[in-house]
Amino acid sequence: MTDQTFGATGAFPEALAQAAGLTDELLGKLLAVPPGPEARVVAAMRYSALAPGKRLRPFLVLASAQLFAVAQRSALQVAAAIEMVHAYSLIHDDLPAMDDSDLRRGRPTCHKQFDEATAVLAGDGLLTYAFEVLAHPDTHGDPMVRCELVTALAQAAGTQGMVGGQMIDLLAESDRSLDIGAITRLQRLKTGALIAFSCEAGAILGKAAPELRAALRGYAHDLGLAFQIADDLLDVEGSAAETGKPIGGDAAAGKATFVSILGVERARSQAKVLVQQAVAHLDLFEKKAELLRQAAQFVVNRRA
Ligand code: IPE
Ligand code: IPE
Ligand code: MG
Ligand code: MG
Ligand code: MG
Repeated sequence: MTDQTFGATGAFPEALAQAAGLTDELLGKLLAVPPGPEARVVAAMRYSALAPGKRLRPFLVLASAQLFAVAQRSALQVAAAIEMVHAYSLIHDDLPAMDDSDLRRGRPTCHKQFDEATAVLAGDGLLTYAFEVLAHPDTHGDPMVRCELVTALAQAAGTQGMVGGQMIDLLAESDRSLDIGAITRLQRLKTGALIAFSCEAGAILGKAAPELRAALRGYAHDLGLAFQIADDLLDVEGSAAETGKPIGGDAAAGKATFVSILGVERARSQAKVLVQQAVAHLDLFEKKAELLRQAAQFVVNRRA
C-alpha cells in the first residue's frame, strides 16, 4: 500500500481505499501495544481506531494536501491524527451515558468489547495522542505549521466544535423547541468542525494563499452539514448490516435532527443542495479538485 501514490487513478473509490490503507498502516505502527498492564488501554485504542470505517476524514486530508503538492508523509501524519480524534469521539458517543450503543463499525462497541472505564481511557488516549502526532517533526519541518495544526484541531474538537455540538445534541433529546437554525448549528459543531479541519489541514500544511484556504473552508462547511444529514437519514432508512451500527436510535431517543424536523424527502433535497454548494466552492481549483467533487457526491449517496 505504501508505494501507492494517493489518487493516482483519479477515481474516488480507489482514492478512498488508498487513504484507508495508508492511514491504517500508519495507525498500526503508531498504536504499537506496549508491554505491561497498560497494554489493555492501547489494545482498546487499536480495536476502535483500526476497526473498518470509511476513513473519509483521512481522505479529505490527503486530497486537500494534494492540491498544494504537500508531501504524502506529512499529510498522513495529519490523517492519522484526525482519525484518532474521530475514533475517540465515536467511543465516547457510544457509551451508555451518551447514545448507549452496542454496535460500531460492524463490531461490538469499545465498552462492550472491553469495559466502560477502559473505553473512557481509550478515548482519552486517542485524543491526547493525536496532538502528540501533530506536534512531531514528521508532520512538518516548520514548527509554526505544526503549531497551527495543533490549534486548529483543538478548536475543531473542543467546546466550539465537536464537544460543544455533542453537548447540544444531548440536550436536544429533551428539547423539542429546536428549530432548523439551531439544528444547523448543532450539526456544524458536532460533525462539521472535524470535517472542516480535515479539509483545511491541507491548506495549512501547504501554506496556501488565504483565498484558496477560504474556498476549502467553504467546501467543507457545506460538506460537513450534508454529511450529518446523510447520517441522520441512514438512521431512519439505512440498515445495521450496511452501516455497521444500530439504526433507529435517534427517533428512539427523541433526538431533534434534520429528518425529524423536515421529514425524509426535504432533508434529502437539502443535503443535495448543500453538495451543489460545496462543489461550487472548488471552482478555483479547476481540474485539481476532481476527487473532492466526487467525494461530495459520495457523502449524500452513501449507504454506510
Ligand atoms: C459517524 O462518522 C459519526 C458522525 C460524525 C456522523 P462516519 O460515518 O465517518 O463513521 P466511520 O468512520 O465511517 O465509522
Ligand atoms: C455523533 O453523531 C457525532 C460524533 C461527534 C461522534 P451520531 O451520534 O449521530 O453518530 P452515530 O450515528 O452514532 O455514528
Ligand atoms: Mg450521538
Ligand atoms: Mg451516536
Ligand atoms: Mg447518527
